[in-house]
Amino acid sequence: MTPPSITGDNDGRRPPRRARYRHLLQCRCNPGRILEEDSRDRASPAARTATDEEVTMESTVNPGPASSSEGRRAGARAGAGADEESTATRLPPGPSAPRLVQGVTALVRQRRGLHHLRARYGDAFVVDWPVVGPSLVISTSSEIKQLYTAGDAVENLENHLGVMFGPDSLVVLNGDEHRVKRKLLSPPFHGRRLAAYDEIVRDETMRELATWPTDREFPVLPSMGRITLNVILRSIFGAEDAEVAELRRRMPRGIKTGAFLTVAPLPGLGGPCSLRARYQAFRRAFDAIVDRLIDKAERDRDLDRRDDVLALMVQARYDDGARMSRSEISDNVLSLVAAGHETVAVSLAWAVERLRRHPHVLDALVEEADAGGEELRKATILEVQRTRPVIDVVARRVRAERLTLGRWTVPEGHMVLVGSALIHDDESVFPNATVFDPSRFVAAKPDQYEWVPFGGGSRRCVGAAFAEMEMNVVLCTMLRAVTLLPTNARDERFHFNGVTNGPARGGRAAIRHRNRED
Ligand code: HEM
Repeated sequence: MTPPSITGDNDGRRPPRRARYRHLLQCRCNPGRILEEDSRDRASPAARTATDEEVTMESTVNPGPASSSEGRRAGARAGAGADEESTATRLPPGPSAPRLVQGVTALVRQRRGLHHLRARYGDAFVVDWPVVGPSLVISTSSEIKQLYTAGDAVENLENHLGVMFGPDSLVVLNGDEHRVKRKLLSPPFHGRRLAAYDEIVRDETMRELATWPTDREFPVLPSMGRITLNVILRSIFGAEDAEVAELRRRMPRGIKTGAFLTVAPLPGLGGPCSLRARYQAFRRAFDAIVDRLIDKAERDRDLDRRDDVLALMVQARYDDGARMSRSEISDNVLSLVAAGHETVAVSLAWAVERLRRHPHVLDALVEEADAGGEELRKATILEVQRTRPVIDVVARRVRAERLTLGRWTVPEGHMVLVGSALIHDDESVFPNATVFDPSRFVAAKPDQYEWVPFGGGSRRCVGAAFAEMEMNVVLCTMLRAVTLLPTNARDERFHFNGVTNGPARGGRAAIRHRNRED
């Protein structure tokens, strides 16, 4: 992976893009005012409007420096680059509608809404949504890099996710607690360990493929969901037994209820039939099952020969020799299953949706799979995730008194959202961005601050390598076992289900079984 620089020049490979990094100057007659140095970058009327509004917002929402001398100093700082500290809050404009209206609009318009805001306000803007509150949305690689390398100056939204995952989940922890837990939980998902799960993925895929109907369209997402749920459960718990079967039955609904709870504006409200009460009942049952599985693991004489994640967690020791408590194991098993199954299933459903609409790519992939190759397939997986990222935005809350991100200075408590879908669609970053073209990633790894479906920095998805392995094996097995039939149907729209953005019609598939019908 090419290491980009922190100054916004990234790696110097694309000079024209540098023109987009606008130097903001302080206007002498109005210290609060921000001017664009290079108006060529804002040629469209929408962008010009945005510049005007930026002035208004800066003086109403974020007053900026109090005196003109302070203003000139701040202007000099902003123009000098991101590495100098700024003391005044400096944010771009954004819609001024009340929070609830913005939240409803975001839910209704979803991905299109973010693109609309970029067209109107530029590559950074401020939104105010329920649950997260006022948030700066960024979408340039230099600002994304600064956020992802900000260390303890930023944190996750722990209160919000803790409702679902519990207080000991990796997803919820911050600072040293997060670092220590992440060190303990990462090994199963990297390097040679991954090879242990390869066979499970192939096996589960073959089992599911055998149920696919011939010559008849069907939504592939539920099928991919079964594959990925079985894969993650078997990878975490090893052998199938009554407890794992019960988890398989309970998990989909439990996770869905939990996901709704994390986006509910008032999760604490409600009686015995409320969302919260139903989730708590699921959580009690889940903890009891995991408890029984830990008991079994502790009695297992072959524990040290097992590859499953639970066995590794039971044996794991912190630097001081302490073991993980049962509630720590339970919170993290839940996090891994919840974070690691639907995301992969949705990406695979998108892969089917894309490939049926790009027969030349499909043909080349079949030829490659039959010949035992994988380069184009891996590139295709990257391109599916670029064009159809399942998570649109990744959030951080500012912990430091002020955080400077390129042109912006964000106050403590404010959220920063990385618009993954926005940078993935940016023409200056990915030329012909709307075209599905896996060849752009053949023999060219994407930049880690431009291609960001797994987030970034110390919180980058801990299961990213596992997910890539899983998608690779599922697609390879599928391409060898069935012929995917191309279609002229319109692209499927995005459908946001509260957590992920999947194909609205479930990724319609139509196949023939190769060995039987070719
Ligand atoms: C295509 C599949 C996947 C996508 C798109 C995805 C995406 C993400 C994203 C965007 C984040 C937040 C990163 C950040 O805040 O910077 C994340 C975190 C996380 N993911 Fe994934 N993920 C996927 C698969 C998986 C799998 C397979 C697992 C487990 C085996 C997993 C476990 C986790 C965990 C535990 C975290 C929290 C990490 C932390 O806070 O340190 N994910 N994922």
